[in-house]
Amino acid sequence: GIMVPSSPSPSSLSPVILTQDELKKIAAYKAVEYVESGMVLGLGTGSTAKHAVDRIGELLRQGKLHNIVGIPTSTKTHEQALALGIPLSDLDTHPHVDLAIDGADEVDPFLNLVKGRGGSLLREKMVEGACRKFIVIVDESKLVKHLGGSGLAMPVEIVPYCWKFTAQRLQRLFKESGCVAKLRTSGENGEPSVTDNRNYVVDLYFNKDIGDLKAASDEILRLPGVVEHGMFLDMATTVIVAGELGITVKNK
Ligand code: 5RP
Repeated sequence: GIMVPSSPSPSSLSPVILTQDELKKIAAYKAVEYVESGMVLGLGTGSTAKHAVDRIGELLRQGKLHNIVGIPTSTKTHEQALALGIPLSDLDTHPHVDLAIDGADEVDPFLNLVKGRGGSLLREKMVEGACRKFIVIVDESKLVKHLGGSGLAMPVEIVPYCWKFTAQRLQRLFKESGCVAKLRTSGENGEPSVTDNRNYVVDLYFNKDIGDLKAASDEILRLPGVVEHGMFLDMATTVIVAGELGITVKNK
């Protein structure tokens, strides 16, 4: 937990302890303030984005929002939004998205992101690449100096066909950065995790800065067998960070 002055009452100075999930919810609710009736909305995936989708459903139910069309970024979010009664569509029908709201695994000072530790990076990148405004919602633990430098996974979605071959080529691409490529698995038997698009995910781990992100992105995408990677460069227009000292809104 984190100590923060209790809000909204400024007269009350007794500290309250907010969990990480409460911080995620604060960032999510703040982002939903940007939603207007009539918008086509990209609906993100993950524990932070889930709060935003819940809030949109609540405002619709209360009649405070109208004529929203949601474009989910995963089957999971699709199910959540359906249960909330949010009207849904897809990019074939609505190729222009007004606003997308989604979480991230890492955010650098230039608002570049790592996403996809939850496994939904391809649809997220398609939807968020089609939106006019992309608001990223995070608690402050997601802020990093360099993407991929936190020792955590950089996900790459690959086709299942000869996945070892592709994983090896990815690892070799970043040999200089001490890259280790691991197939993402799930369950007791270590079955490969399968994405919404029936692909696999390879997580890249680095022990050194990977340097120029755009060059790294281009190199990964040039490998046959790679579908997409989790670096979201120059895509976020706003990042909302909920932390110990309150909410920070960073604009591109
Ligand atoms: C899923 C994602 C998520 O946005 C990311 O993993 C953050 O998740 P959470 O909000 O649960 O911390 O990219 O593919």
